[in-house]
Amino acid sequence: MSEFPIGVFDSGVGGLSVLNALREELPHERFVYFADTGHAPYGERGDAYVAERTRAVARYLLDRHRIKALVVACNTATAAAIHQLRADHPALPLIGVEPALKPAVATSRTGHIAVIATRVTLESRKFETLHASLAAQAVFRIVPCDGLAGAIERSDSAEIAALSQRYLSAAGTFGSAPGQIDTLVLGCTHYPFIAAELRRHAGDAVRFIDTGAPVAQQTRRLLSQAGQLAETGCGAVALVSSAAPDALDAAAARWLTRPAVDATTAIASTATIV
Ligand code: DGL
Repeated sequence: MSEFPIGVFDSGVGGLSVLNALREELPHERFVYFADTGHAPYGERGDAYVAERTRAVARYLLDRHRIKALVVACNTATAAAIHQLRADHPALPLIGVEPALKPAVATSRTGHIAVIATRVTLESRKFETLHASLAAQAVFRIVPCDGLAGAIERSDSAEIAALSQRYLSAAGTFGSAPGQIDTLVLGCTHYPFIAAELRRHAGDAVRFIDTGAPVAQQTRRLLSQAGQLAETGCGAVALVSSAAPDALDAAAARWLTRPAVDATTAIASTATIV
């Protein structure tokens, strides 16, 4: 089974930030990246809708691409559906993402931490539990960023700038002095792609925390435990979208850190109905 691909899934282009980390950590693996562009963004939809989409995409990736593992590279889908996915596919190595509150507590000096993510993620029981377990150790400023993932999907720079400013101002004052927010948790996989814009508002002293690298390491651990690590492949990526693939193609050309034209890397996108 080690030659089968790893499925990576997001509502849209955000999971490419996780795919970059996965390709870094697992250079011999093949990946199928699925963007549910036809139904994005997920962040302001109901839980039930996101859970239903997540289960349908997982089914599609298993049936059509014979994936050996699934990385749910979407905080919103993880919050809404990871428990159902685990029940649906008990034997499948399954990796989700959640806002990195624990690493933030470990690195923050001021003990003031901002968390930005979608509304579905932040209102989920999973997040509430995580937050409650750490609430005594830091002051968290939690800001749902309605519309921000959608603006990133559309590459709408004016909207991205306006929303970044609005949401980071709502979080409070950033800096390294006592009482200031010195750590920003990027709780949505779209946000690493606008790190430069966020930094304009948060300043240089603030530490940004995302989950790409730990998720990639956890994927390696699970594959290794299952005896399914690829040792010799060329790291090909197939891009699949539930809408016309143009947006995904453009995002991949812009944001994949390993060049899409790498001689050993075949990248081809297709649109598919799931
Ligand atoms: N990239 C996603 C996340 O990590 C979801 C963004 C959205 O579709 O609203 O939550």
